[in-house]
Amino acid sequence: MADDDASIRSLLKQLLTDEGFNVMEASTGGEVVERVKSDHPDLVIMDIRMPEVDGLEALSRIKATSPQTAVVMMTAFGTSNVAIRAMELGAFDYITKPFELDKIIHTVRRCLEYKELTNEVQVLRQEISSLVQTERIVGNSSPMQEVYKTVGKVAKSDATVLVTGESGTGKELVAEAIHYNSNRRSGPLVKVSCAALPETLLEAELFGHEKGSFTGALAMRKGRFELADKGTIFLDEIGEITPSVQTKLLRVLQDRIIERVGSSVAIKVDIRVIVATNQDLGKLVEQNKFREDLFYRLNVISIHMPPLRDRKEDVPLLVEHFLAKHRYSATAQPAAISEEALNRLIAYEWPGNVRELENVIQRAVVLSRGQIITSRELPFGDEGDGDEEEGGEIPSERSFFKRSVAQFEKDLIMKALRDAGGNRSKAAEMLGIYRRLLYAKIKEYKLEGYPPKGR
Ligand SMILES: Nc1ncnc2c1ncn2[C@@H]1O[C@H](COP(=O)(O)OP(=O)(O)OP(=O)(O)O)[C@@H](O)[C@H]1O
Ligand SMILES: [Mg+2]
Repeated sequence: MADDDASIRSLLKQLLTDEGFNVMEASTGGEVVERVKSDHPDLVIMDIRMPEVDGLEALSRIKATSPQTAVVMMTAFGTSNVAIRAMELGAFDYITKPFELDKIIHTVRRCLEYKELTNEVQVLRQEISSLVQTERIVGNSSPMQEVYKTVGKVAKSDATVLVTGESGTGKELVAEAIHYNSNRRSGPLVKVSCAALPETLLEAELFGHEKGSFTGALAMRKGRFELADKGTIFLDEIGEITPSVQTKLLRVLQDRIIERVGSSVAIKVDIRVIVATNQDLGKLVEQNKFREDLFYRLNVISIHMPPLRDRKEDVPLLVEHFLAKHRYSATAQPAAISEEALNRLIAYEWPGNVRELENVIQRAVVLSRGQIITSRELPFGDEGDGDEEEGGEIPSERSFFKRSVAQFEKDLIMKALRDAGGNRSKAAEMLGIYRRLLYAKIKEYKLEGYPPKGR
């Protein structure tokens, strides 16, 4: 409690001590700032007009050194400008002098209650965020153990991480694991797919833009880097960015500074950067397609996701995980899988890695209607020698199977196209398949004009 008027100080001290609070006094702005710095009290009540450092100045210093400390200002009548300024600077409330004693006690109680509540909310929010977290990373193989170890070691630092590996190996999952195990977990995790947008749009997306900086820039917009402040930004498919964006990214990594498109004002951002690629960045550097200095900046710590074919012992675990995740209906028990079908899954080479396995299981659950999954519900039954000898009826069964798979695939693609508003790159991203594959499927299913325009 700070006031340069000794009589007010002793009055307030008496009052608050009687109410059971532990009270310290200060008579100047400088003094109060020092006490807050060392003792971090719950609440400061201080006069706006004090010698040396005035109340507003003291307020902003307190907010800078001890943001958790609530501040109630005392002002004389007719100083509403100052009062407004105090609220802007983060004061909890202000009381006008001369004041009623009841009013003070009431304000103090309200303030402390409010603090307790917001503390609780913050704790809850943190707990929830670590709960929602992310999907569990499944796998016990030794290459995966190495991945977990590295994630554990680097999560708490702010070091840039480069995640490499083939498509579908879980790069994004690892990025999530790093974020949610870091001290930034209560901050945002912002994801950007660098392949999804053409250069100029990607630049605007990442760095933001000022109003009118290009046709269509109708209003100022913050970029993803700014939105990721106090959190993590995940730049996926980093091998796709053009030289101009590479140069800008280098600057962000060096100085943690960005400029919006159409502006030269430097904005500081407090971010952690994680990037991923399924390309060989070293090779891109050799081919002069990727800046060498940027490569070194990104490659501080790298995590390589092993392809699924190199850790087949993880297949049964993953199958179990996906069976539990993709049930036939929300209330259904997880489907079971026959020994023979599981062996097929283990034998397969998985060019699309875990994502492909997940898709296969998801389809199989639907085709088997949640009952036991046999190799008939797996998409690579044709060339196998397993159930070939059963003879006669199988071809029609098979064609039923194929028709069902095709229908399912078509439905998925149509849904993605609808959800993406006809944007095929976005639809491909949502489906987790390459654009090239999507185009081929669109042709196969004659979905060129889908979804129909208009409305
Ligand atoms: N170890 C794992 N445990 C559980 N699920 C996994 C695992 N690895 C991948 N997945 C799942 O597989 C899918 C693909 O994973 P993810 O998106 O992380 O792959 P990616 O490496 O980023 O692929 P791409 O390069 O194609 O973007 C996701 O649905 C993810 O949840
Ligand atoms: Mg990915």
